[in-house]
Amino acid sequence: MSESTIESILQEKRLFAPPAEFAENAQIKSLEDYRSLYDRAAADPQKFWAELAEQELHWFQKWDTVLDWQPPFAKWFVGGKINISYNCLDRHLTTWRKNKAALIWEGEPGDSRTLTYAQLHREVCQMANVIKELGVKKGDRVGIYMPMIPEAAIAMLACARIGAPHTVIFGGFSAEALKDRLQDAEAKLVITADGGWRKDAIVPLKEQVDKALANNAVPSASNVLVVKRTGQKIQMQPGRDHWWHDLQAGASGDCPAEPMDSEDMLFILYTSGTTGKPKGVVHTTGGYNLYTHVTTKWTFDLKDTDVYWCTADVGWITGHSYIVYGPLSNGATSLMYEGAPRPSNPGCIWDVVEKYGVTIFYTAPTAIRAFIKMGEHLPKARDLSSLRILGTVGEPINPEAWMWYREIIGQQRCPIVDTWWQTETGGFMIAPFPGATPTKPGSATMPFPGILADVVDMEGNPVGDNEGGYLAIKHPWPSMMRTVYNNPDRFRKTYWEPIPPKDGQHFYFAGDGARRDEDGYFWVMGRVDDVINVSGHRLGTMEIESALVSHPAVAEAAVVGKPDDLKGEAIAAFVILENNYSSSEDLEKELKQHVVNEIGALARPADIRFSEDLPKTRSGKIMRRLLRNLAAGQDIAGDTSTLQDRSVLDKLREG
Ligand code: PRX
Repeated sequence: MSESTIESILQEKRLFAPPAEFAENAQIKSLEDYRSLYDRAAADPQKFWAELAEQELHWFQKWDTVLDWQPPFAKWFVGGKINISYNCLDRHLTTWRKNKAALIWEGEPGDSRTLTYAQLHREVCQMANVIKELGVKKGDRVGIYMPMIPEAAIAMLACARIGAPHTVIFGGFSAEALKDRLQDAEAKLVITADGGWRKDAIVPLKEQVDKALANNAVPSASNVLVVKRTGQKIQMQPGRDHWWHDLQAGASGDCPAEPMDSEDMLFILYTSGTTGKPKGVVHTTGGYNLYTHVTTKWTFDLKDTDVYWCTADVGWITGHSYIVYGPLSNGATSLMYEGAPRPSNPGCIWDVVEKYGVTIFYTAPTAIRAFIKMGEHLPKARDLSSLRILGTVGEPINPEAWMWYREIIGQQRCPIVDTWWQTETGGFMIAPFPGATPTKPGSATMPFPGILADVVDMEGNPVGDNEGGYLAIKHPWPSMMRTVYNNPDRFRKTYWEPIPPKDGQHFYFAGDGARRDEDGYFWVMGRVDDVINVSGHRLGTMEIESALVSHPAVAEAAVVGKPDDLKGEAIAAFVILENNYSSSEDLEKELKQHVVNEIGALARPADIRFSEDLPKTRSGKIMRRLLRNLAAGQDIAGDTSTLQDRSVLDKLREG
């Protein structure tokens, strides 16, 4: 965050109460209601979650034990049998929701489709049968590399239906990044499309899959299922590649949901951390189903009349929890949009809101800042009166963007729910209830019932009001990540050891800095580790450094985030070249493209500075803090006494 953003957040004093009429009709109607719910949950979290699990979900068999907590490993609803695809589909078919729109989809070129619960159920069953035909069994992992089309959600639900954990890889990741993830998950099948639309161009997804699988790089992957989306010409490898529409034609629309153990793995989702390789975050079935269900229901005050739209991509956790599983488990209508604002259609977002009468709109601060830049004439030219709740996620929201969202999009009528959470947490951890919690621009407000959040120092001691500290969670919750795939040690070290356990109390370390004000409101200030947040996308600096040094010209690289008005943070790289290379604009371009090839366009450095040396401590550690100051054009702050060679800083500044 830039200093001016931090400054404006620190001085923020405005408070907006939920409109009286909204509160009257809300599920949770007042701050007192929230507090009593919170207190009841905190007094006995297991009882609280068990009651909800019983009320809200269908179980083939009830659990024996609510929580088995062997820190840091948690098991929820042990012995219970459940299937999330059943909860998202089958159970609605015996109600009036059978013919309710489950998915409304709008394609970028303007084509569209609506699937009712009955239709979605049928297609999911067909795909589940096809996946089984292709040799996938319960427990086998399936890679999903798709554009934002209904088949992306269908593929996820089909995997869940037969108990094959999916790993969705965002369609913006490169072939190289795709390969790494498919290898780590040992995916048996890859589901993809010929291509997808992105800002009036076609993203060649199948071609990337071909590159990722070339030379038998992913030996486990014996089949590829291809959805026809764009119709462009692609290579189909006989025996390995199959068109979805061919196999769908012969597939039955009936496939009973497999009763899964509550703790069976539902999916792996790769996310960036502080070390080079992204880690596979593991989520399991029962607890994840419950938590995403309840958080969607309460935080969005869901009603059967809602048309709910989350603009995330299914490749991220937001798409998993709040496009697919949470909304469908509630029987809601979830809208999926393939497009994004682009020069040929800058107002497309508001067109979609108007066309479908969207009532709940959930997006990211970086998108809001882009909307502001494009101009308020775009939303003002559309009828946005259907909207009743606005949500935000992905990074701290600057108060100016929050106010614009409230005034221009929400027309001062719609409560804003700023939701703080992570890939690892599975669902919302800190967020207001729209009918109950007065909101403050820039604060995610207070924890969800059952979530014991705190701001502590590195010894686990709570810090005082308005003092900065680390965001920590002090009790397991149903949708917490269970482990890092194939690496329980990394799970323990990354999340549970940074703040050591104290007197039997364990602390989940989120990696975010925060403060809590005198009213108990949380203000998340951003990452405190080597993770940067570019347009709400999470990237590890080490990951980008590894990509840079894999180029023959690069001897050493250091990457930091620098404040960016639109993206929140942008990537700044400092590069030392090998002896036989010299810096040039062409080389700078080549290195940027190299990072795009290794990771994806989202990781393209905004600038690369060539240098002969980097500021290091006497023990050889790069002092990134100083590089961050340099990249942001700020004065060097803090202690520099451990610096090995001070002249390096001067040279970098001049260079
Ligand atoms: O730094 C926090 C930021 O995004 C990180 C989690 O990123 P990811 O796992 O990709 O999940 C993003 C979508 C849930 C967090 O550690 N973050 C997310 N939401 C907020 C936020 N920072 C401040 N306010 C938020 N509402």
